[in-house]
Amino acid sequence: HFFSVVAMEQTFIAVKPDGVQRGLVGETVRRFEQKGFKLVAMKMVQASSAHLEEHYKDLKEKPFFSGLCTYMASGPVVAMVWEGSGVVAMGRMLLGETKPQDSLPGTLRGDFCINVGRNIVHGSDSVESAKREIALWFKREEIVTWKSCTHDWLY
Ligand code: TYD
Repeated sequence: HFFSVVAMEQTFIAVKPDGVQRGLVGETVRRFEQKGFKLVAMKMVQASSAHLEEHYKDLKEKPFFSGLCTYMASGPVVAMVWEGSGVVAMGRMLLGETKPQDSLPGTLRGDFCINVGRNIVHGSDSVESAKREIALWFKREEIVTWKSCTHDWLY
């Protein structure tokens, strides 16, 4: 089919350890589902320090880098791939700003957290980094192509 050969935009979204422990997995999934995006991969992962250092390698010179990796390894994360037109930029809008104090109510970070070092969710910041992050967290066969029988207009 035409649809299956067009590469639909995808983003990598993760509920961080604090988000998992606070019961915010469902809320995160709900907001992406209700916006109209398609979930194409999801798994719970206890990430290793090496994996997280690779994930955040662009930040390795930052003073918060080691604390960030320790926090991200402190418990399981729920890793997801969401698909849809504009999903990278709109996914970031659903998350809010990096700093919770800059995040408006109505966003996940604006509604549910107060500390940049415990900001509950991750989302890719560009189409290019989405591709890198999806390849880092998921095997190709873990990403599922599927189509709704009844709701063609959502995506
Ligand atoms: P960054 O990639 O700049 O933000 P985002 O997650 O919104 O793409 O930073 C990655 C994570 O690093 C961020 O989610 C939380 C943490 N962080 C801090 O702990 N302190 C800071 O001052 C910044 C900028 C980020």
